[in-house]
Amino acid sequence: MSAVIIDGFQIAADVRHQVAEKTAELVKTGVHPCLAVILVGENPASVSYVTGKEKALAEVGMKDRSIRLPESTSEEELLKIIDELNADESVHGILVQLPLPKHINEDKVIMAIKPEKDVDGFHPVNVGNLVIGRKAFLPCTPHGIIVLLETMGIKTDGAHAVVVGRSNIVGKPVSLLLTRRETNATVTICHTGTKDLASITRQADILVAAVGRPKTITADMIKPGAAVIDVGVNRIPDATKKSGFRLVGDVDFENAKEVASYITPVPKGVGPMTIAMLMQNVLEAAQIAAEAK
Ligand code: GUN
Repeated sequence: MSAVIIDGFQIAADVRHQVAEKTAELVKTGVHPCLAVILVGENPASVSYVTGKEKALAEVGMKDRSIRLPESTSEEELLKIIDELNADESVHGILVQLPLPKHINEDKVIMAIKPEKDVDGFHPVNVGNLVIGRKAFLPCTPHGIIVLLETMGIKTDGAHAVVVGRSNIVGKPVSLLLTRRETNATVTICHTGTKDLASITRQADILVAAVGRPKTITADMIKPGAAVIDVGVNRIPDATKKSGFRLVGDVDFENAKEVASYITPVPKGVGPMTIAMLMQNVLEAAQIAAEAK
């Protein structure tokens, strides 16, 4: 039997709808949630992500303080802009789209964002709070994955989750979220140093692929009945498309869906959830700022 295709597009729309309602309530109290999105350069994937974020802000009724900077922007200039946004009370969240041009130190930039406005959840203060179970802004893609699992009623308690990939944006934080007491999965993290990857992925009740390489996970690497979450967003050439490319994940979707019980498609799986959870974080940042007034 073919797997249930998880409709991340619809689930994300439902989350945005709830965020829009709460945003409207907050606006009535005189606080209008506002996100500053900073894009340096014109990396096509980043331009597309940032455009998606701007569209979502408009849809949920939030203010959008978009800042597009040329590739030649210096680290100093970028840090100065972040300082100004940190001090601006009308801005509740600051997001610097990654990756940054090579001449800018990404760590320094992430560290410059005030943790209270770090709606990406990338600042070491938020990462540390997540590790020790204190309140923190949760990173958007990992949080979106947890919401997909919850919404679909996929049992995580006692499940063996295998995460392939150890990035700071997805692999590491999703592993932490999966092991939290309320999720209660047992997690194995695999990476480029893992020997016999297939023997480990085949043990997964929940398999999260966050590698950034097409067809890394093939059908024979999946345990029958597993839930497969594909975080990959890879552009591959496709002459039949106007853009000249199409998006594929890290999983060989067509064959994998015949083995798995649940699977996320690419696009319209995890991707829309990232933006929906970002909107939720901006709302939360604005609510906290409103309470502190
Ligand atoms: N680049 C890829 N994913 C993300 C993300 O979630 N946030 C930011 N800021 N940059 C990214």
